[in-house]
Amino acid sequence: MQKRTVLQRLSLAGLAGLALSLPLALTGTAFAQAKPFKIGFILPMTGQQASTGRQIEAAAKLYMAQNGSTVSGRKIELVFKDDGGVADQTRRIAQELVVNDKVDVLAGFGLTPLALATAPIATQSKTPMVVTAAATSIITEQSPYIVRTSFTLPQVSVSIAEWAAKNKIKKVVTFVADYGPGLDAEKFFKSQFKLNGGEITGEIRSPLRSPDFAPFLQKVADLKPDAVFVFLPSGQGAAFMKQFGERGLDKSGIKLIATGDVTDDDQLNDMGDVALGVVNSHHYSAAHPSAANKKFVQAFEAQSKFRPNFMAVAGYDGMRVIYSALGATKGQGGGDALLAAMKGQVFESPRGQVLIDAQTRDIVQDVYIRKVEKQNGQLYNVEFDVQKAVKDPGKAK
Ligand code: PHB
Repeated sequence: MQKRTVLQRLSLAGLAGLALSLPLALTGTAFAQAKPFKIGFILPMTGQQASTGRQIEAAAKLYMAQNGSTVSGRKIELVFKDDGGVADQTRRIAQELVVNDKVDVLAGFGLTPLALATAPIATQSKTPMVVTAAATSIITEQSPYIVRTSFTLPQVSVSIAEWAAKNKIKKVVTFVADYGPGLDAEKFFKSQFKLNGGEITGEIRSPLRSPDFAPFLQKVADLKPDAVFVFLPSGQGAAFMKQFGERGLDKSGIKLIATGDVTDDDQLNDMGDVALGVVNSHHYSAAHPSAANKKFVQAFEAQSKFRPNFMAVAGYDGMRVIYSALGATKGQGGGDALLAAMKGQVFESPRGQVLIDAQTRDIVQDVYIRKVEKQNGQLYNVEFDVQKAVKDPGKAK
């Protein structure tokens, strides 16, 4: 009865007046929270690096499915854009996302040149830029708005250099993709290996785009080192392994050691037995034996029908860093407030415990030494040693 009287008292004109005054009332916090919070992922979804885009997109969607599509009452919207792995495209898309779509955060960046091309836009627009793939050390120094959840090549190259020197490997030829992360891998492997008494007997670089590994592998065979140390970006490992086997290098007595980019979980099962026994170092393996990782891998495979790799885990953790930061600002966001809330985050990732270093905005994480083994008929990077809480050695002044 009471309800009815109230309703009867509200005239049509009164209702219209109420509707008109609503937008005016939505100012400040309320207005900000009514707007969706947009995360713009720029990824290579086509071209040579397409697997990186596919992995990170799947991981970001999984994170959202598991953690909800609102944070502190704010609706989250994910936008995915394909840059084809071309820096001019990345820059143009980033500009459009910031200016037209008004994204709150930029994320992704499948290759170093793509991250470098976007850094000035992050700085000028004060937009947090969460790098979930590219791994050259200097990237985080290109803008105070960059936070990285992937890794750096110095971080993983030092560990395998130490392992090699302690395991009767005296002479090494390095073989890397000829651009930022490859040069980082070469430099940091070399200095650590030499520090531990090893000798570098050759340095080979292959072009990033459409490489033909054959001539370089011939050079390795001619140089006859104890081992060849390899870094190639995610997506090139299977082609490299195939040629390594075809040229008989797996039976030549020259050991293959690498960063885990080469024995990438995305392609490992397609590599066949030539990959068996390859010792490599990295921050994530789909076989990492923790409860958190088992849960992650199971959920990821159920959703996507393929195995997550290190790109996926960085995308998943990138989402977590963004969600936590938005939560810390009670859904308000804002470039500087989000950045402040991203710095110093500590959490358990599927890869193990990680920290976003407040000074460098780069990730501090465990680095594992692994060996490719067959388990239940499938190839995995099986961890057998670990270096705890490794900071990017590229930043140690
Ligand atoms: C890079 O371009 O920074 C990059 C890409 C793929 C990797 C590692 C580094 O696996």
